[in-house]
Amino acid sequence: MDTGEALRALEEQLGPRGFMLGAQTDERYLVDIKGTRGAMPLAVLRPASTAEVSRALALCHAAGIPVVTQGGRTGLVQSHVPCEGEVVLSMERMNAIETIDADAAMATVQSGVVLQALQERLDGEGLMFPLDLGARGSCTVGGNISTNAGGNRVIRYGMTRELVVGLEAVLADGTVLDGLKPLIKNNTGIDLKQLFIGSEGILGVVTRAVLRLVPRPGERTVALCAVGDFAQVRALLRQARQRLGGELTAFEVMWDSYYSRAVRIVGKAAPLPPGQPYYALIETSSAGAGGAANLEALLDEVLEAGTVSDAVIAKSGAENEALWKLRDISVEVTRTLMPAVPFDVSLPIAAMETFVPAFEAAVRAIDPRCDNIVYGHLGDGNLHLGVHQPPQRPETFQAIQEAVYGLVGKYSGSISAEHGIGVSKREFLPHSRSAQEIAAMHALKNALDPKHLLNRGRVLEHRAAA
Ligand code: LAC
Ligand code: ZN
Repeated sequence: MDTGEALRALEEQLGPRGFMLGAQTDERYLVDIKGTRGAMPLAVLRPASTAEVSRALALCHAAGIPVVTQGGRTGLVQSHVPCEGEVVLSMERMNAIETIDADAAMATVQSGVVLQALQERLDGEGLMFPLDLGARGSCTVGGNISTNAGGNRVIRYGMTRELVVGLEAVLADGTVLDGLKPLIKNNTGIDLKQLFIGSEGILGVVTRAVLRLVPRPGERTVALCAVGDFAQVRALLRQARQRLGGELTAFEVMWDSYYSRAVRIVGKAAPLPPGQPYYALIETSSAGAGGAANLEALLDEVLEAGTVSDAVIAKSGAENEALWKLRDISVEVTRTLMPAVPFDVSLPIAAMETFVPAFEAAVRAIDPRCDNIVYGHLGDGNLHLGVHQPPQRPETFQAIQEAVYGLVGKYSGSISAEHGIGVSKREFLPHSRSAQEIAAMHALKNALDPKHLLNRGRVLEHRAAA
């Protein structure tokens, strides 16, 4: 089957709502939120069911057409941006919440459901899907699964991997792997769903999932603390863990480089004045009332002990949101450094105190105009860094990346904590994974997608099949 025949068959199979020729493609399928623009795809496929995904992939497989899968297109490593000669497989029409089982605390959803739509629906049922991140209004559960998304509540509930009970995925040749049993305990050979969680769509297309839910917390309270040195940030984390236990659902830290910019963007009176070295955002969630009182008691203790120099606690849902907003607008804050080089690194928390000044010195040594921001999910050992790349100096892009990844290696960190590898970080993968591990990844790719059609060139360099 040649490409033209395959495109005609795809149009026939998927119908007018499910098929758009490349030339009719809407701009949104081509770009990412950083403004990277991809090639015009041959077509955009918008299947409405697993059976349609299967038939579409089988046709692409027969004709050897590479396929890039798209969820909410909020990824930060250029995975979903189309490359020359690809078709886009958009999961946007597969957005149903199929079942919610309150007794089992599980939901079965199609992968194109938007995270916030799921959160809102569950809220109405007294339940919660614990995953949460700034992109909630656009990102899809399928994208979250494919990237093993982290976000704001990992300290309490873990990464997406911990929240997936069952998974349905379609292989490159159209084979459907139905692993949707809603069973927590199911030791029956290789746990195939794990192959598709966090592998960024290179082994199969996630079509449906069974997700783990928790009861919706009765009370949620957020506080913001100004902290004078890093030893005190660590002490605050320790004390928050001790005093709040399982009620501690977020421990985020913003360096002043980030916080002062965020305050300027929000434009309202800052909850705490900028100019302190660190700002810690702490969230508690409790089943009944009482969580806020525990958080207040913690703040009294740490203010008394001088661990924090100042603190505010939200008194309403709106005030919770106002504090979270400072942290949720990270993409806008990073834009103030444009053109910016972003990083998403994991580090031992103890190493951050010396890592951050070493990072700042290293990028300033490349060019003194390399302004930077630091913030992140400190309780999970995950920092996001952004570095301004001075205009007219394209060569600094590579120099900044090499300097930062060199330092991450020196401090035994990871070059990606939660955003993944995609295209942007592929060449740096050997900083975090051994040659043997990367060879094993290629072996899996060859086994499940021998023609290398799914998300080609993402994560792994595209090599002609053996
Ligand atoms: C955040 C995104 C960038 O934590 O991961 O804001
Ligand atoms: Zn993050």
